Amino acid sequence: MTVDGRLGGRLIALGVTGSIAAYKATELIRLLAAEGADVVVMLTPSATRFVAPLALEALSGHAVESDVLALLPDGRIGHIVIADTCDAVVVAPATASWLGAMANGLAGDVVTATCLASSAPVVVAPAMDGEMYAHPATTANVARLRDTFGYRIVEPEEGPLASGQLGVGRLAALPTIVAAVVAAIGDRPVRTADPAVRPARVAAPRPADLAGRHVVVTAGGTREPIDPVRFIGNRSTGRMGVAVAEAALARGAEVTLIAAGVSVDLPAGAAIVAAETTAQLRAALLSALGGADGRAGFDALVMAAAVADFTPIAPADTKLARGAGLRLDLAPTPDLVAEVVRIAAGLDSAGASRRPLSPRPIIVGFAAETGSLDRAAGKLQRKGLDLLVANDVAEPGSGFGSETNRVTVFDRDGDREAWPLLPKRDVADRILDRVVRALDERDTMGQTEPIEQESQR
Ligand code: C5P
Repeated sequence: MTVDGRLGGRLIALGVTGSIAAYKATELIRLLAAEGADVVVMLTPSATRFVAPLALEALSGHAVESDVLALLPDGRIGHIVIADTCDAVVVAPATASWLGAMANGLAGDVVTATCLASSAPVVVAPAMDGEMYAHPATTANVARLRDTFGYRIVEPEEGPLASGQLGVGRLAALPTIVAAVVAAIGDRPVRTADPAVRPARVAAPRPADLAGRHVVVTAGGTREPIDPVRFIGNRSTGRMGVAVAEAALARGAEVTLIAAGVSVDLPAGAAIVAAETTAQLRAALLSALGGADGRAGFDALVMAAAVADFTPIAPADTKLARGAGLRLDLAPTPDLVAEVVRIAAGLDSAGASRRPLSPRPIIVGFAAETGSLDRAAGKLQRKGLDLLVANDVAEPGSGFGSETNRVTVFDRDGDREAWPLLPKRDVADRILDRVVRALDERDTMGQTEPIEQESQR
């Protein structure tokens, strides 16, 4: 999706009905997408006999809606989600039968149902036999759509028809239909840019580009005990880390998920190591890192867990009474990811030199900030990370527990890339795209030299 075209950031609902011209839907999707639109396709039952939903799904990146009674996997009603979020509905080709149903408000298919339920502008491009188009019934239906409903009609053209006859009934040229959609939307604001509210995107099939790689992911938030029943914790649910683990599994990686207080379902297929406290997370990480034989135990570490920065110095063995209140003495925790980087680069935990681990693991950190992300580049340098994924957790739709995230990614070359608001799974796949690239570079360069180390704290 580009943001530059005349439909940048727009969601266009393309309704296809059962005409021979339905095959042109694939090209229409391409033209709309080239203008920057996100396209979701709806088919009437007869249209499914002309075009295969699978092809349209692959092209549009959305599940095709064809059953007016079907619910989405998350329980929402598909055509209502489309009706409420699309910037325009375009029905192309529109058959005589569909025009008749629409003119009478007969919402028996997803395309009519969406038009009835939507306040978005509607563009209709009829296509049929010339006599059918000229019939007074069709003329009256088209007039009703245009004059009473305010729909924009893109008149069919004259030319050879499927019947072998010449006449007016050929679907208008596709660029004319696209231009009508652009004009119908005009300067209306985008109805919703939030991918979590729009119809869900289907995950694009990914190559198994992490096959043979061991990826370790930490997820969730650590809990530091105050007494046997209370702890200092944080708001992390583990959703982002679990999304990374799932995406890595789907791309063929062997995945170890170190789970600290994760409150979402854990992915099947990953080796799960439970860690509650920062000390347990540290032990799990060092054990996964290996290195006794000089070999790194993993190819990449994605450190998505929110690690406590302070821990009570002397947790109580028995439950503390409310009494007169409580003062807690807290000690800073070690920076775990920085320690992993140091060890990988050839320093042991006490700072003594030894052989760098080989091959050099790629290490990705996260930084949850509130407000400016300006500290993030310094954090990447200080910790010696390959990649730092920073987000403003105070922003709506981004951060703890949400399905989406808007992140800015910093890398070792000093480059900074701001990604749009995306489902966490898409963020995960984009992070892994960068990891795959870094691993490939590492392998081609045979790179094992020590990487920049955090200044000792
Ligand atoms: O410095 P800050 O807490 O913002 O850094 C966040 C990154 O560092 C995350 O990847 C987090 O998992 C990691 N971290 C850590 N050990 C700590 C604190 C944070 O590994 N004690």
